[in-house]
Amino acid sequence: MHYRTFGRTGWQVSEIGYGMWGLGEWTGSDDDESLQSLHRAVELGCNFFDTAWSYGSGHSEKILGQLLRAHPDKKIYVASKIPPKNLKWPARPEYRFEDSYPPDHIREYVERSLKNLGLERMDLIQFHTWDDSWAGEERWQRALDDLKRNGLIVAAGISINRWEPANAIQALRTGAVDAVQVIYNIFDQNPEDELFPICRELDIAVIARVPFDEGTLTGALTFDSKWPEGDWRNGYFVPENLKSSVEHAEALRPLIPPGMTMPELALRFILANLDVSTIIPGMRKLKNTEMNIAASEAGALEPDLIKKLRQHRWDRQPTSWSQ
Ligand SMILES: NC(=O)c1ccc[n+]([C@@H]2O[C@H](COP(=O)([O-])OP(=O)(O)OC[C@H]3O[C@@H](n4cnc5c(N)ncnc54)[C@H](OP(=O)(O)O)[C@@H]3O)[C@@H](O)[C@H]2O)c1
Repeated sequence: MHYRTFGRTGWQVSEIGYGMWGLGEWTGSDDDESLQSLHRAVELGCNFFDTAWSYGSGHSEKILGQLLRAHPDKKIYVASKIPPKNLKWPARPEYRFEDSYPPDHIREYVERSLKNLGLERMDLIQFHTWDDSWAGEERWQRALDDLKRNGLIVAAGISINRWEPANAIQALRTGAVDAVQVIYNIFDQNPEDELFPICRELDIAVIARVPFDEGTLTGALTFDSKWPEGDWRNGYFVPENLKSSVEHAEALRPLIPPGMTMPELALRFILANLDVSTIIPGMRKLKNTEMNIAASEAGALEPDLIKKLRQHRWDRQPTSWSQ
């Protein structure tokens, strides 16, 4: 595993981190299987884990707490998220700051997450949604400052809404944000336009999330893919999205070098961008975890292949189903 500096915090984080949404609440999760994968990730050098209170109302955080207690000798960076008070994803311009992140709500959920994790202090807390109209509101900045001064958090971040990578830039300019989490993958290259240059300028860490486009870039989706009832992906991969997602994934196949898989291609594309501090694939299965971590050792793809993949940029706009 190779490590990168996590912005101005100076932390050395693994290039491949661990996304913990799926194991918290997607259908088909099995806690024993998830824990086995998590332990293996730690053994293989993964030291950055991304969770949230909302991933199973604390379930994913509690699993991470178990992992931390089993590896007291290792430095494991813990990132969690505060849900918006109105519990609505994503944030919309009409949502008021008071209904989303009032200071007492920020404090309450940091304390809840710490309890679930079994920690007195966590490394990174992130707002789980954001609308940049809140940037100038000083109350969130003061709340984060207080949490840092009181030793409950070390750093603070924003998890940016799907397909709106510029919708946090004013907040970054306030100086109160140490890290951003953003969708960045072969299709979603648009964080490179405005967001990454500002992160570089202000030394803000970048967490690249959804490296497989929620499954499209694993190459496993078909025009008939369906998930068990209650799985959020039925609402995301609506027919219109499923069809174009499969078509976009199929268009990549001829570019995959012999012996490489599409997930490996997807991760090694992201590794080529040094603005990214860590990539957090969502994983539950041991095999996936081992394969994804191996991508760090294999390293970034060859520049010629990156050039060809860049032509597969797919700019999308938030819609009623994009969540
Ligand atoms: N608003 C937000 O803040 C937000 C939103 C979305 C995601 N996130 C964070 O980002 C993380 C990653 O996003 P995601 O989990 O939604 O999507 P993702 O990483 O794009 O895709 C996850 C899917 O890929 C599968 N997979 C993983 N490795 C694979 C491999 N090597 N081969 C084949 N399939 C593989 C997983 O299967 P298994 O699960 O069965 O292993 C899972 O179905 C989340 O876990 C979460 O921590 C944050």
